[in-house]
Order: sequence, then C-alpha cells, then structure tokens
Amino acid sequence: MTEKLILAYSGGLDTTVAIKWLQENYNVDIIAVLINLGQPEDLEDAYKRAIDTGAKKAYIIDVREEFIKDYVFLALKANSRYEKQYSLATAIARPLIAKKLVEFAKKENAGKIAHGCTAKGNDQVRFDVGIRSLHPDIEIIAPMRLWKLSREEEIAYAQEHDIKINVSKKKIYSIDENLWGRSIECGVLEDPYNEPPEDIYKWTEIKVKPGDSEYIEIDFKNGEPVALNGKAMSGAELVLKLNLVTGKYGIGRIDMVENRLIGIKSREIYEAPAAEVLIESHRALESLVNDRELIHYKYLIEEKLSEMIYYGLWFTPLRECLEKFIIESQKYVTGTVRVKLGYKNFAIVGRKSENSIYDFALATYDKSDSFNPSHSESFIKMWGYPYEILAKKGRKNG
Ligand code: ARG
Repeated sequence: MTEKLILAYSGGLDTTVAIKWLQENYNVDIIAVLINLGQPEDLEDAYKRAIDTGAKKAYIIDVREEFIKDYVFLALKANSRYEKQYSLATAIARPLIAKKLVEFAKKENAGKIAHGCTAKGNDQVRFDVGIRSLHPDIEIIAPMRLWKLSREEEIAYAQEHDIKINVSKKKIYSIDENLWGRSIECGVLEDPYNEPPEDIYKWTEIKVKPGDSEYIEIDFKNGEPVALNGKAMSGAELVLKLNLVTGKYGIGRIDMVENRLIGIKSREIYEAPAAEVLIESHRALESLVNDRELIHYKYLIEEKLSEMIYYGLWFTPLRECLEKFIIESQKYVTGTVRVKLGYKNFAIVGRKSENSIYDFALATYDKSDSFNPSHSESFIKMWGYPYEILAKKGRKNG
C-alpha cells in the first residue's frame, strides 16, 4: 500500500508545485487539506487545483469560529502583541492548523505531513513544533525548505509539469491573511527606510475623508466581544464585521522591524483593524473592573503568552497554565466600550460595566467628594519610611 501524506494546501504556487515535487521524490498518496481561516482565496477553486495537480483527495474545512473562539479570543484576553506591536494574526493561526493536520494524519493513517514554509520564517518552527508536540512519530516534510528555487525557477517547473496556475513572474509581496489580520512583507518593504506604498494596503484602504468620524459600541462578556452596536453576533462574524467598519478609516496599520525566532530581523507591515480596536477596547474595560495589582501583574503574563504564541510554543504546559490565569482574570470583564473612529485613528471615548470598581464619590473633585484627606498623610509617611530612615542614617538614596 502506498504511504499517505497530509499536505497543508493553500492553493498558491508553492504548495501546488509541492504536490508534484512530493510525488516525484516520495512514493506517497497526497491528501490536501485546505483550511478556511477567513483568508480571501477561493477554496473551491483551490480544491480543484489540488486534484488536477495530482492530489489523491482534498478536504476543505471551515475552522473560522473555532479559530476565533479558542485561539484569537485567548490572545485578545491577554491583549497579546509581540514586541509591543504585532497582534499575532499569522502566529495565532499556526497551532490550529497544526492540530487539524495531525487530526487528518491520524484519521487517514498517514505517516507524513508536509507544509509550504521556507527555511527563513517563524512559521516552519510553529508548524514543526506544534505537529511534533501532538504527534511525535510523524515525519514532517517542508519542500520549500529543502528545495531552494527562485520564483522564476518555480514557475518554469510548474510549466514543465503542466501545472495550471495563474501567477506573474514577479510576485511583489508575500502575504498571509486570516480573520485576525493581514501580514505583508518583501519587495520594497525589505528596505526598512522605505515608506510602504499605499497600494499594499487592502483591508485598510481608506474610503473616508479627513474629518469623517463615527461612534461604535462593543459589548464584552468575560473578556470576549459579543455584540457590535448592540447586535449580538458570533466571534467570527463580529471580527469580520469590525474589520470592515474600522478598516475603511485606515485604522490598524502597523509598520515594524521585528526579531524573528530564527535570529534575523525582518520588516513587516500588518493590517489588523479589528484586532487593534478590540485589544484597546478590551484593555479599557479591564481598567474599569480589575484592581491595580491584577492589572499590573497581568502585564507580565501577557508579555510571556504573546512571546510563546510567536515562538510556536502553544501545545505546552506553560501555555496552559498562563491560559488559566488569563481566563480567571476575565471573570468581571463584562461591559460596554464606546469607540470613536476617525481618519487613520481611533479613540476609546467611554467604558461602562455592572462590575465597575470606579468609585465616583472617591474620585471626584466636586462637592460630593467622600475621600477623607486625613488618611493620606499617615499612609504617605509609612510608604516613604524606608527611605527616610536611610537618609537619617546618612545613606544616599538613589
Ligand atoms: N512575521 C509574522 C510572523 O512571524 C508573519 C509571517 C508571515 N508573513 C507574510 N507576509 N507572509 O508571525
């Protein structure tokens, strides 16, 4: 019996050429798996291409709701950003893809899994480590990592092998997309001093005029967004809708040089309008309902979890422990945030919650003030005691 191989198939040039290459180099039946994470590609069309190119079978699976609920919303509850900027769209999708590939490998009794990652990126790490953490005996093949071909050579190979795919000789940018964001690299962006040309932006293509604005309202329940402008919707629906509503203002562009796990720096542009607005709204609600020590300590957990997502360390005991902390911290994060959208920016303009611990009577400077000023003096005296004592003993403070 011919051995089976599960291929993470996107429909693009790399993984299509990989079908032929895998057949030429290994004696395998290829089962292509197409995973719908909300990317714009026509998956029916890709399905046909997989079969036409020689895949024995192909599957399309829609994981959008699972992606948002179990992966993206954990990242959101942790206000996750890598290096304080990147909201992790590409990275957060990888563990789910790895999990699905392993499920197919087990179901089909396949001994090999293949993916289209190159040797330079983070994604190969996330896939390989994720897959092996769930299925340590599986063999992983990454054709693009083994096989160093220029784009022109790849196209020539496709032509020689009669692979039908519409591509131009020069692919200008490398793009990865899912519901949580769009990542863009290569071309002129490789010089970090070059301003990104306006035409790279798709989700944040500006369709409003300077001065235009609108208000939106987002309801959260236990840290998860559940309604937009009072209308309840599923996670995936809400993120999709919010991307459209905020993207047209040019909100959610990130331009950064990031430190890849594999040691090099890269310049990447992100478009993540919903992610930007949701993370900042979520943080604003937390500021109203959680106490100071929890908020401050959570920063450390957020930082660590974000790094683990970026590093591909999802299926690990530490991620599970950090997740428990994050979930517990969301017990009271229920309420509404009001956001003002404007030309290329947004602002959180209001937040309210039944769990608010904002005490008006204590905070106000007007006559309803209930704060007892006599408490302050003694507190401050004790707070500063250690340094006062040092000074009295002739020691220098700082
Ligand atoms: N730098 C991002 C990450 O490592 C995105 C990688 C994919 N980017 C792309 N343009 N294809 O998560």
